[in-house]
Amino acid sequence: ANAKPKDLEIYGKVQGRVPGISTKTLGWTLAMMRARHDEQELAIMQRSIRITEAGHRAAWAAVKPGASEGEVRAEAERVWRSMGSRRPAYESIVGSGPNATILHYPRSERTMQDGELLLMDMACEYAHYAADITRTLPVNGRFTPEQRKVYDTVLKAQAAAFALVKPGAYYEDLDKAARKVIEDAGYGDYFIHGLGHFVGLDVHDAGAYHRPLEAGMVLTLEPGIYIPEKQLGVRIEDQIVVTANGARMLSDGLPRTADEVERWMAERQGGTKR
Ligand code: GLY
Ligand code: MN
Ligand code: MN
Repeated sequence: ANAKPKDLEIYGKVQGRVPGISTKTLGWTLAMMRARHDEQELAIMQRSIRITEAGHRAAWAAVKPGASEGEVRAEAERVWRSMGSRRPAYESIVGSGPNATILHYPRSERTMQDGELLLMDMACEYAHYAADITRTLPVNGRFTPEQRKVYDTVLKAQAAAFALVKPGAYYEDLDKAARKVIEDAGYGDYFIHGLGHFVGLDVHDAGAYHRPLEAGMVLTLEPGIYIPEKQLGVRIEDQIVVTANGARMLSDGLPRTADEVERWMAERQGGTKR
């Protein structure tokens, strides 16, 4: 029905050779095949996520005032490689302070400062499957009240979307639910991208956003709030799989709440040091 001129030309040729044959566009069929993952694929994707998480933890251990974005990034990429990953799934985004508000900040060359946030959107590819995880940490281990308010809003937005995920749900409704939380908190102008995307062989994988979700589909939920005038950006990105009657968080191996993040950083720093 929505065949393009090129498609029609191909149909014409095929029908010319095989009279009476019926033809059909398989573009969406292929996209759906890529979007739905069986147990074997999910096991590989889970491994890709676990390796990614190990890299995050090594990188987080290097986060402190005076460290460079590059040191942090290099730790993650070193660990992925050492665990059998051939490459990052996309160019790692490691941005402190003002750089946390730049969506695809590629350079990783700034020195992070006390009191800033550090946004790390970085993940490996393993056995051809991409992961995609973002965490945002306070450089000195403690969120300011304002940073925590923004962080909690982003987390709440992600939770609102997650609660709706099940077979038959629509991506658009997940996006709306997350957006509403951020708007209601007064940050509506600062959530400047979509909620998420399919992940698989590609980090932004094929899939049909206008069709209902099905079991086995893997998506990111990655709300964010970016306030350039305050040099403050927060994104929390996790990967979920649609299950028979709901959803499961695949990237559940890292701290996510503000309290968990602060506790992790305090323990890493040997307890009480601030
Ligand atoms: N890392 C790219 C993205 O989050 O979509
Ligand atoms: Mn993503
Ligand atoms: Mn990402």
